[in-house]
Amino acid sequence: MTDAYERMMRANQSNWDARTPVHLASRFYGIDGAGGADGADGEPDPSRWFAPWEWDDLGELAGRDVLHLQCHLGTETIAFAQRGARAVGLDFSAASVEAATGIAARAGAEVTYVRANVYDAVEALGGRRFDVVYTGKGALCYLPDLDRWAGVVAGLLRPGGRLYVVEFHPLLNALGPKPAPEEGPELLLRHDYLGGGGPVHRDATHTYTDGPAVEGATDSYEWTHGLDEVVNALAGAGLSVRRLRESPELPWPRWPHMTRTSSGWWQLPEPRIPLLYGLLASR
Ligand SMILES: C[S@@+](CC[C@H](N)C(=O)[O-])C[C@H]1O[C@@H](n2cnc3c(N)ncnc32)[C@H](O)[C@@H]1O
Repeated sequence: MTDAYERMMRANQSNWDARTPVHLASRFYGIDGAGGADGADGEPDPSRWFAPWEWDDLGELAGRDVLHLQCHLGTETIAFAQRGARAVGLDFSAASVEAATGIAARAGAEVTYVRANVYDAVEALGGRRFDVVYTGKGALCYLPDLDRWAGVVAGLLRPGGRLYVVEFHPLLNALGPKPAPEEGPELLLRHDYLGGGGPVHRDATHTYTDGPAVEGATDSYEWTHGLDEVVNALAGAGLSVRRLRESPELPWPRWPHMTRTSSGWWQLPEPRIPLLYGLLASR
C-alpha cells in the first residue's frame, strides 16, 4: 500500500469517527426507533437494511461464522446475529465500533466487534476463518486497492466459504447518490461511471444522513470501482462468482418521485435502472 493511500485512509478514519455521533442521532439510521432510512418511526428493525433477495442469496446463517467488513454502527451485523449466526463486525473507526458495541448490547444481540483496517483483517482476527464475509452499501468506495481487498477476503474465508457484496451500483454513483442542490427530476450523469479515475477528495461538513454539521475531520477520499474491477479482483484472488443481481430498488427514496415497493424499499417508476447490485462469490 502506498504512503499516499495510507494517508488518505487515515483521513477517512478520522472522518468516520467524526461522522459517527451525527449518524447515531440521525433519523436516517433510526437507532433509537425514530425515523430510519425511510423516515417511518417505530421499533428499529435491522432487516429493513436488507433486500429480500439478499436473504435468498445468503441462505441459512444459523450456526455460521459471519464476518461483516466495514460494519459502521452494526445495523446489518445485528441482523446476522438475530438469524443465529456467530456474527463479527469489523471497522477501523473506533467511534463506530464503540457505538456498534453499545447498540448490540441494548438490542441483546451477541456480536463481537473488532477495530481494524480491512487490509489488516486477517491479522486482526488472528487467522480466524469464516463461512460468510458480507460487506457493502457504501463500503468499497473507501478502499483504494480492490485486488488487495479481494486477497484479504480470500484469506478470511474457509474453503467453500462465500463472499456477499451488496453495493450501490456504479450508475447510481454516476447519477449522484444524493440530490445535488436545485436538482430537477431528470437523471443526469454527474460523476464517472467507470472506475480507475483515482481518489476523489471531499471536504464536506455534511454527511449523507440528516443532522448537524460534522465537527472536526471533514476531509475524506473515495474511489470509484466499476463492476469489472470488482469481478476481476475476485477472480484474481481465486474466488468464483456464483451470482450477480442488479436491482432497481434502494432502501431510501433518493428521488422524490420514487415509489414504495412491496419490499418496503423504493423504486423509480421509469426508467428502470440498476441502483444496487448483489454479488455472491465463493472460495
Ligand atoms: C457507509 S458505512 C458502510 C456500513 C453500512 N452499510 C452502513 O451503511 O452503515 C462505511 C464504513 O466503512 C468504514 N471504513 C472505511 N474504510 C475502511 C477501512 N479501510 N477499513 C475498515 N473500515 C473502513 C467506515 O469507518 C464506515 O464505518
